[in-house]
Amino acid sequence: MSDFPPLKNDTFLRAARREPVPYTPVWMMRQAGRYLPEYRALRAMDAFFEVVRTPELATEVTLQPLRRFPLDAAIIFSDILVIPQALGLRVEMVKGKGPHFPEPLAGPADLARLADPDVRRDLGYVMEALTRTRHALEGRAALIGFCGAPWTLMAYMIEGGGSKTFSASKTWLYRHPEASRSLLDRIAEVCAEFLIAQIDAGAQAVQVFDSWAGLLSPEAFAAFALPPLRAIADRVKAVHPEVPCIVFARGAFYALDALADSAYDVIGLDWTMDPREARRIVGTRAALQGNLDPCILYAEPDVIRAEVRRMLEAFGPVGHIANLGHGMHPDHDPAHAAVFVEAVHAFSRRTS
Ligand code: CP3
Repeated sequence: MSDFPPLKNDTFLRAARREPVPYTPVWMMRQAGRYLPEYRALRAMDAFFEVVRTPELATEVTLQPLRRFPLDAAIIFSDILVIPQALGLRVEMVKGKGPHFPEPLAGPADLARLADPDVRRDLGYVMEALTRTRHALEGRAALIGFCGAPWTLMAYMIEGGGSKTFSASKTWLYRHPEASRSLLDRIAEVCAEFLIAQIDAGAQAVQVFDSWAGLLSPEAFAAFALPPLRAIADRVKAVHPEVPCIVFARGAFYALDALADSAYDVIGLDWTMDPREARRIVGTRAALQGNLDPCILYAEPDVIRAEVRRMLEAFGPVGHIANLGHGMHPDHDPAHAAVFVEAVHAFSRRTS
């Protein structure tokens, strides 16, 4: 991979390794998306998964937020649901409703319907987008690859979309624990291969999104969600020990200690978690990422700046990657995202 342009801004990678940085690096989950008029304009022409599957377009959308804000990392434009697609399930993105699986997994017998994917072929468009984006970035920011976590993907594959209670997927855990474990292990294997391929294609860090971790009891998380999450990081680290792995298990504050004991280098916090308490639990075992409540971006700029300062003080200058506690919302004002990013840089420069 030596033909990639040299990384001129390594603050994100340094913070992930808990090395000293001149300022706190910052990026935003869902930084490319509908709150940007240039994304809406591009999306008006193509269906969501068409954009995802077209490397030129995915690269363009990945770069859009970096043209507006001095972000320290880019995240490749794609979706966690490309893995269920590679496993043979149909996924549609329904306007105003979100993802929809016309034929979700109805029971353990449906596991036989799942394909055995060749990740580098079936998801080759993601790798191509990463390689293109890494070149186009010219070293201005680090490039993050990602995938969904096994539990979150299993939940979508069984629910067929979003859900209030996720009772169908949780029913599997309690009625069909063996089938659940076998599905989770199968997804984990695909996740690990996919992340390794993404790194080979140019990703400089990878993040695993366990967006629905908070639906599980601590016991269910430990029994079902954690083992495949651990397996993914172990496999990626065996091949690419130097590449930071980030885990974002939304709502799973009870799992901080266990996650700190895993191969993940960085633990993402949602906004319900107290940074000082997280630091106390995690210690020097991992860097932390997060965790401003995305709704603070609806406030006036001075309020955003004050909240950023509070966040930076709570995390401290070492081993912190600033981010939101979840993704950007479609009705966020890009000008307020700019205030957030600039405030992180300004305050951390002053205090470090
Ligand atoms: O900028 C980035 O963060 C990179 C791109 C990215 C998208 N989805 C683009 C997207 C990333 C990292 C994701 C991850 C993702 N996708 C997650 C984990 C993060 C989280 O939010 O918890 C989840 C749960 C999904 C599944 C998914 N995809 C949902 C629930 C939705 C619909 C929600 C909505 O906002 O409508 C999507 C669609 C989606 N993924 C959009 C984008 C920009 C909007 C679709 C559109 O353009 O119509």
